[in-house]
Formats: sequence, structure tokens, C-alpha cells
Amino acid sequence: MVNFNNLLQYLSLQSPLPSSSSASLSNLNITETLTKMGLTTYTLPSLPYAYDALEPHISAQIMELHHARHHQAYVTNLNAALVSHATALAEGDVAAQISLQQAIRFHGGGHINHSLFWRNLAPAGTAETADPAQAAPELVAEIGKVWGGLAEFKKAFGAALLGIQGSGWGWLVKETGEGGRLRIVTTKDQDPVVGGQVPVLGVDMWEHAYYLQYLNGKAAYVENIWNVINWKTAEERFAGRSEEKTEL
Ligand SMILES: [Fe+2]
Repeated sequence: MVNFNNLLQYLSLQSPLPSSSSASLSNLNITETLTKMGLTTYTLPSLPYAYDALEPHISAQIMELHHARHHQAYVTNLNAALVSHATALAEGDVAAQISLQQAIRFHGGGHINHSLFWRNLAPAGTAETADPAQAAPELVAEIGKVWGGLAEFKKAFGAALLGIQGSGWGWLVKETGEGGRLRIVTTKDQDPVVGGQVPVLGVDMWEHAYYLQYLNGKAAYVENIWNVINWKTAEERFAGRSEEKTEL
């Protein structure tokens, strides 16, 4: 079970983890060590659909590699980095704590981003994907106010996705606070959305998300992914009804 808010807060503020026991940690495995310190051991979330459920738009091969290998690696490396960080904290090794910040940001962000991504996808032709206006009436109405319509939003979002240089993510976010305006933002590498923005939907623009199927046809991936966007999940996030705020 993942405490999403705590990790996101840590990545946002780059604040130190809670202090831990000064006992030697080297002989304990990662889960035992994190548990003893009262820290969360992050785990790979199950997909809410089968690996081949998004075909033909995203192949089963991509989904399995992306989830079971890439996302699992982010989780494994995040837990290892947190153990190293907690050890450095217990030992008062500030230099080591500083050196681990980037690893925690990268792998923690990777875990958060992919957990959000799986849930904002669903099989094509279902109640979640087929009719955005029916699945996400409040969100689609707000998109109409901001961009003039769903087609215009898709065009703007697609341009943002294709404008990403190197690896990164494109997001539709809702600003927190009164008004809650929708915005399109991009994040570099595995940086998550932080700082007064709630991710409504995200699209992974790393090559591992599409290359085995689309090769260099990035525009076709961006066009086809609309067939598998889960608008019900997006509506829940937009309306603040998503349980992802506390647990993933
Ligand atoms: Fe990815």
C-alpha cells in the first residue's frame, strides 16, 4: 500500500525523511529496514486491466515490459535509495543524504507518474473511454470553457506532448485553490506534478511507452492514446473524488 501524499510531499519539499534508529542497517533487507524505521515500502501496483487490454492502441508487449520491468525498477530503486538515505540520516552523513536526492526524485517520481498513468488508461470502446462527455461531464464542460472544445484541447495537448524534448510527461492539471483552472504542463524525465497542481491525466512520452510498436511515429502514439484515455478516472481527479489522494 502506497502513501502517495507523503512521497509527493517529500519530492515537492525535498525535506528530510523522519529520523531513524542509529542501529546498523546493512544486514537487513530493504523491506525489513524500511518497516523498522516506520517508513513505507513501496510496491508495484497491479494493473486494473490485462496487459493486452489496450490493444491495438498499446501492445501487450509494451504494457508488460513497461509495467513489470520499467515500473518495477522504479519501485525497487526507490526503496533502495530510501534505505540508503535513512542510513545516511542515522549516521549523520549529510553528504550522502545530498547525493541521494536525485535518485529519490527520479525513482519516486517514476513510481508516482506510472501509478497515475495506468489508472488514467482503460480499454477502448468501454464506458470509461468511448464517450468523454458522458464519462466526464464536469471535466469536459470545463475543458470547453478553457480551450473551446474537446477537439481543441486534444490539439493543444498533443502539441505539448510532441514538443517534449527527450524523455518526459505531458499532463492536464487542475490548479489547487479557488477557481481550480485547468492547465497543460509538461515535466522532464520522471519529475512528478507538484506544487499546487492536481494531475487529472498524464501521458508517458518516454520512448519505452511507444517505441516497440510505433517506432519513430510519436505522433501516431499521441493520436491513438485518446482511444484508451479513462475519462472516468480523469473526472474523479478533477472533481476531487479520487481516492488516489491518500492511497494508490
Ligand atoms: Fe514509462
